[in-house]
Amino acid sequence: MTDAAAPPLALSVVGLRKKFGDVTAVADVSFDIGRGERLALLGESGCGKTTLLRMIAGFERPDTGRILVEGSDITDLPPYERPVNMMFQSYALFPHMTVARNVGFGLVQEGVARAEIERRVEEALELVRMAELAERRPDQLSGGQRQRVALARAIVKRPKLLLLDEPMAALDRKLRERTRLELVELQRRLGIAFVIVTHDQDEAMSMASKVAVMDRGTIAQLGTPTTIYERPRSRFVADFFGSANILEGEAAGRLVRCPALGIDIKTDHAADAGDGRRVGVAIRPERIALSTHRPEGADNAAMGVVQALSYLGDRSICHVEMAPGLTLRAAIDTRHDQPRPGHGDNIWLAWAARDAIVLGD
Ligand SMILES: Nc1ncnc2c1ncn2[C@@H]1O[C@H](COP(=O)(O)OP(=O)(O)O)[C@@H](O)[C@H]1O
Ligand SMILES: [Mg+2]
Repeated sequence: MTDAAAPPLALSVVGLRKKFGDVTAVADVSFDIGRGERLALLGESGCGKTTLLRMIAGFERPDTGRILVEGSDITDLPPYERPVNMMFQSYALFPHMTVARNVGFGLVQEGVARAEIERRVEEALELVRMAELAERRPDQLSGGQRQRVALARAIVKRPKLLLLDEPMAALDRKLRERTRLELVELQRRLGIAFVIVTHDQDEAMSMASKVAVMDRGTIAQLGTPTTIYERPRSRFVADFFGSANILEGEAAGRLVRCPALGIDIKTDHAADAGDGRRVGVAIRPERIALSTHRPEGADNAAMGVVQALSYLGDRSICHVEMAPGLTLRAAIDTRHDQPRPGHGDNIWLAWAARDAIVLGD
């Protein structure tokens, strides 16, 4: 098999940079996404997500770098000539226009024939299940309905790539969860690539086929949700994505010497950096098992004192002081009637070698 017949990538971004005065909004970003993929750009406020999206849409000129959609370089094209559409964080609907006219506005601007506009507006409104409300104005709609109108307006031009900037930010939690599923379903039906900006990790995990974790204008790691969760590359990603426990130590083969914990942590992979280097070890709270007696046969075990228990409904988080200034968090499943550890109890923590992730930086 050769790659000769492989379809071109939906989007390639090569070495994009953007400064505003002294502020570097996007430092040096490169990535590819395939056709029909959903990429989530995940990161804290101010890390450059919107700027990156605006450059792809053409509303911002990059200082350096190229943008390719399905193999064609679009870096120098104005927004309206790009096969790309962006749905803004604020939705930016025209208040005096009906839903149908809001959705059709871009097509009118392009001089598309009236009958064709009507047909495509109807089709787009059907897709987002808003056809019945076509004659309403935005102020006669709920937040969720407005969001769908904005979405219909973004897909009516049949872009090859859809950019969504925090599409669910204005919705309440329940509606947000439902809308996530709807968006994924819609994306599958349309078969176009999505780039979704979010600062919400659950949203990124549940919607995206790939996640790019951003840190101060750069991509700290890009991969499937599983890879990012199971094999974070750095302390930043491990901490940001899923808030792992992070221990500091020194690499020695597949062990990490951790004097603060008083043990050598067994892992299933050696540090890339090599022996003798300072490394972090990430351990997810839900991969730590608690027991009142020393666990037998565990790859790693250490004892501590229960400091606090926070009840979160579906699980509890047990904070265990392992040494002065060193606390680990372990998640406890609350489905079963397990004995709850109490404040001040001595408790054993155990975790498998494969759940101890060595972090280079
Ligand atoms: N038009 C602009 N002029 C000046 N600074 C800007 C402009 N747009 C964004 N920035 C700055 O660039 C950085 C990244 O912003 P932004 O891309 O909006 O981040 P995010 O969407 O991740 O919150 C921030 O420090 C922001 O203040
Ligand atoms: Mg933003």
